[in-house]
Amino acid sequence: MKIFLAALTATWLCLAVPAADAIKPGALWPDNLGEHIQAHGGGILKVGDTYYWFGEDRAKNNPRGLRCVSCYASTNLVNWTHRHQVLKLRNPENFGRGWVLERPKVFYNAQTKKFVMYMHIDGALAGEGHGYKLARVGVATCDTVDGDYQYLKSFRPLGHESRDIGQFIDDDGAAYLISEDRPAGFHIYQLSDDYLTVAKDVCLIPEHLEGGALVHYDGLYYAVGSELTGWNANPNRYATAKTLAGPWSEFKDLAPPEKNTYGSQSTMLLKIIGTKTTSVIFMGDIWRPDTQWDSRYLWMPLEIGNGKLSLPAPREWTLDVKTGEAIINR
Ligand code: GAL
Repeated sequence: MKIFLAALTATWLCLAVPAADAIKPGALWPDNLGEHIQAHGGGILKVGDTYYWFGEDRAKNNPRGLRCVSCYASTNLVNWTHRHQVLKLRNPENFGRGWVLERPKVFYNAQTKKFVMYMHIDGALAGEGHGYKLARVGVATCDTVDGDYQYLKSFRPLGHESRDIGQFIDDDGAAYLISEDRPAGFHIYQLSDDYLTVAKDVCLIPEHLEGGALVHYDGLYYAVGSELTGWNANPNRYATAKTLAGPWSEFKDLAPPEKNTYGSQSTMLLKIIGTKTTSVIFMGDIWRPDTQWDSRYLWMPLEIGNGKLSLPAPREWTLDVKTGEAIINR
């Protein structure tokens, strides 16, 4: 029995289906080898019919001192094959103790035919203890999507502090980096033609938001972010604008605020354009700071339309990437 539940102009369906091949928010998510996927704070790049999921690889048995990024591939967004640890970095620029590599995001540059990875690089300043003081982005490139990425450099975008980063590719293919600049706010930067640097500050939204994500849906841009509460979940919020440069609306709650985004933090909004409909998936991390390798994922199809965005309570759901239909199990 099919029950169509289109609140707003939402594009998801509601139907009882078997749990096989369902996306299970908060559960262990085994890859093809049976290992829990290590792609925390991640992002997705689609190449042909294949989705590549990049993220922080925090596996317990990674060698100490190495910061790793893993890449997984899937054609249905449910079953993922571990392709490669595409970056294994040992303090490339003599950063301070406790340096970190977080939230890797990969873009494809059609002009140079390079895959370009951005990452949040942080750590202590020289002579200081631990801390997120460097506030830089790092850049690495590769000739293939899942090969060995070569670390190139780190910098502060246009001189601004940069902590959590997000990625956005607009419908015209233009590539943007979302970056948290404390205390100024949330920047949307356009990348240079070769993607190796930041060319332009398209907008500074003066809100203190991490885990920044953007999607363009039905003529409106939606920006999502979380409060600055470290690994602890908080009520993520969203705003809308007709152009990336703004003006942006006030930020509103994505879900009932007492739910703290169901224990998760935004990392990306993924748009699936199908033959029947377009779905937008909220990709979030459920962090487990003391056992990071066991951090979980909360992916749910959003109710979206007419300037409103709502994250449904987590439940198992299935996705047909061909038709674009997302079906939440009840
Ligand atoms: C979060 C951020 C994570 C990580 C963490 C460290 O707010 O989103 O990527 O940096 O803080 O406390």
